[in-house]
Amino acid sequence: MCGALRPSDAGKKVVLMGWVNRRRDLGQIIFVDLRDRTGVTQVVFNHELNAAVHEKAEALRNEFVIAAIGSVKRRDPDTINPNIPTGEVELVAEELRILNVSKSLPFLPSDTVLANEEMRLKYRYIDLRRDAMQFNIELRHKVALAIRDNLASQGFFEIETPFMTRSTPEGARDYLVPSRVQPGTFYALPQSPQLFKQILMISGFDKYFQIVRCFRDEDLRADRQPEFTQIDLEMSYPQPERVWETVESFLTAAFKAAGYEIKTPFPRMDFDDAIRQYGIDKPDLRLPAFTDVADCFAPDELQTFAINKDLPIIAIRIPNVGELSRKERDNIKPLFVSKGGARVFEDFKRIETKHPEAATKVRAKAGAAADDLVVLVVGSQSGAAAEAHPASKRKVTPAEMAIYASAGLLRVALAQKYSDRHKLFQKGDFRFLWVTNFPMFEYDEGEKRWMAAHHPFTSPHEEDMDKLETDPAMVRARAYDVVLNGTELGSGSIRIHRQDIQSKIFHALGMTEEEARNRFGFFLEALEYGTPPHGGIALGLDRIVMILAGADSLREVIPFPKTAAAKDLMMEAPTPVAESQLRELGIGVVVKK
Ligand code: AMO
Repeated sequence: MCGALRPSDAGKKVVLMGWVNRRRDLGQIIFVDLRDRTGVTQVVFNHELNAAVHEKAEALRNEFVIAAIGSVKRRDPDTINPNIPTGEVELVAEELRILNVSKSLPFLPSDTVLANEEMRLKYRYIDLRRDAMQFNIELRHKVALAIRDNLASQGFFEIETPFMTRSTPEGARDYLVPSRVQPGTFYALPQSPQLFKQILMISGFDKYFQIVRCFRDEDLRADRQPEFTQIDLEMSYPQPERVWETVESFLTAAFKAAGYEIKTPFPRMDFDDAIRQYGIDKPDLRLPAFTDVADCFAPDELQTFAINKDLPIIAIRIPNVGELSRKERDNIKPLFVSKGGARVFEDFKRIETKHPEAATKVRAKAGAAADDLVVLVVGSQSGAAAEAHPASKRKVTPAEMAIYASAGLLRVALAQKYSDRHKLFQKGDFRFLWVTNFPMFEYDEGEKRWMAAHHPFTSPHEEDMDKLETDPAMVRARAYDVVLNGTELGSGSIRIHRQDIQSKIFHALGMTEEEARNRFGFFLEALEYGTPPHGGIALGLDRIVMILAGADSLREVIPFPKTAAAKDLMMEAPTPVAESQLRELGIGVVVKK
C-alpha cells in the first residue's frame, strides 16, 4: 500500500497502485505522489534510468489511476520529507501501467482550500478521497466496531428489525412507502425500532442491540439528518443504573478506539437541577453554571431597572472575555431569544455605574474574575402571562422556566461567540453527564394537550402514578439522557411493562381507547402475555463520531449525507417518478403551487 514503505524496505521490488495525487515534471525527472487510503509514496520516473517509462509518465495527470512497479530506494538526506511516514524512501519506477484516466476535476482531493459544500456533495466520491474524509470514515468504522464488540462481550445479541413497518411515535413525521399489493396503504420507515425492541424483550431475547438506520422527516440542523444511525439497545429487568453502566462501558471502548480515555461513572443530574443551573436539559459542563443573584439587589434598585423581584435574576458568567466595547455590548442583545417574559439585561455597565455596590455583590456571588463577562437575564415586571399555564404546579414554574431557558440559550450563544477568548472548548475535553427524572409530559400550547416528553412507552415513577390524571405536570418519568459537551448523545427509559398502565398513559395523552387500539393494538395485546420489566436507550452514532472527529456537522462523518433541504446532491434524490409507477401504486400527485 502507498503508506507502507520504510527505509528497511530499501532494495525491495514492489508494486504500488493508487491515484496520482500530485505530479511534478522537472524535465528529465518526473515525481508522482501516489496515493491510496493508507498514505502517499513518492514515485520517480527518471529519463536517464528508463526513457520509455519516463515518456509514458509524461501523460500522467491528477487522479489518474496507475500501477507503478520498481525498487524502493532511500532518499538522499536533503530530500527527506519529515511530514509523511514514507518520507525517507521513494519508488524508482521501472514499469508503469495506466489503469485509468481522469477528466480534469472540479476540485482536487489534495486542495488545501476546501471546495464549497454544494460541490463537495455533488462530487462526493472526490470529496471522500480527501485525507480528512478518509480519516472520519475510518474513525466511524473503528467506533462502530468497538461498540459492537463491546456490546457482544456484555452478552447483547445484534438483531435486525424491519424497515418496512408502521408508524412509531418519536415526534417527527414519517417517511412513507406505498404498498403496491394493497393500494392506498403505506408502510412507514422506522423513526426508531422502539416497539420492535420492546417486543424482542417480550420474545425472551433479554439483551438486544442494533446499530441501525432510522428515518425522520423533520427540520434539519447541523446535528440532524433525515437518515441517521442509532446504537439502539434494550434489556430485561434493568434498573436505570444497569443501562447507564452498559452505555458507559461501550462509550469507553468507542473513545478508546479513537485514542481517548474517558472517566466513568458519568455524573448525574436531575432535570430540574439542570434547568435551574444551566437552563437546558443538555448542559455543557465545560462552562460555569448560572448564579441566581436576586439577593444582591435592594428592592429600589430592581425598581429602577424594571426587574421583576419575584423571579430569579440569572447571572451568566463567561470566563476571560475581557472588557467589551460599546459595540460588542450592543451585539449581545441580538443573540438573545426570549422564551416568554424574560429579558436580557446586557448592559451590566449601567448597573456598575448606577449601583456599584450591587454590581460588586453580583460579580462576587457569580465568582467572576476581573476579565469575566457577566450578563444578567431577568423577568420583566409584567411577566405573569405564562402563569395560567397548566404546568404551573411544577417545581420550576413556567415564568421561571422562561428565564432559565432564555438564559440557557444565551449562555451557549455567548460561549460560542467568545470561544477563542475563554478557550474552554479544548480538543479531548469530554464532559459527559446523565440527566435523569425528566417530566413525563409536556403541554403542547398549539394542540392544547399533554404530549409524552420522551415517548408514550416510558414508565412514570411509581410514586407519581396517582397524579397521572389529576396533575400530569408533576409526574416524573423514569427517563434519562446521556449528554456530552452540550449535545444530547442519547435518550432512553425504563418502559411500561403492564398493559393497564400503558392504557392509562394513552388515556392521559388524550387518546381514546379506540384510537389506542387502532394504533397500538398489537402492542397492547403483546403486553398481556407475560412481559418482563424492561428498559433501554438509543445513542446517535453520527453525533458521537462528529464530536470525536471535532467536526461541526453530521455531514462530515456520514459518507453520503443529505443537504438541509433533505436532498442527495450526488444522486439528485428525491426525484419525480414515472406516471406508470404511480399508476401501479394507485397514487395521484397534487403539486402545491
Ligand atoms: P430519540 O428520539 O431521543 O430516542 O433518539 C435517540 C438519539 O438518536 C439521535 N438522533 C438523531 N441523530 C441525527 N439526526 C437525527 N434526525 C436524529 N434524531 C435522533 C440523537 C438522539 O439522542 N426510541 C428512543 C430511544 C429509547 O427510548 O430507547 C429514541 O429514538 O443522538
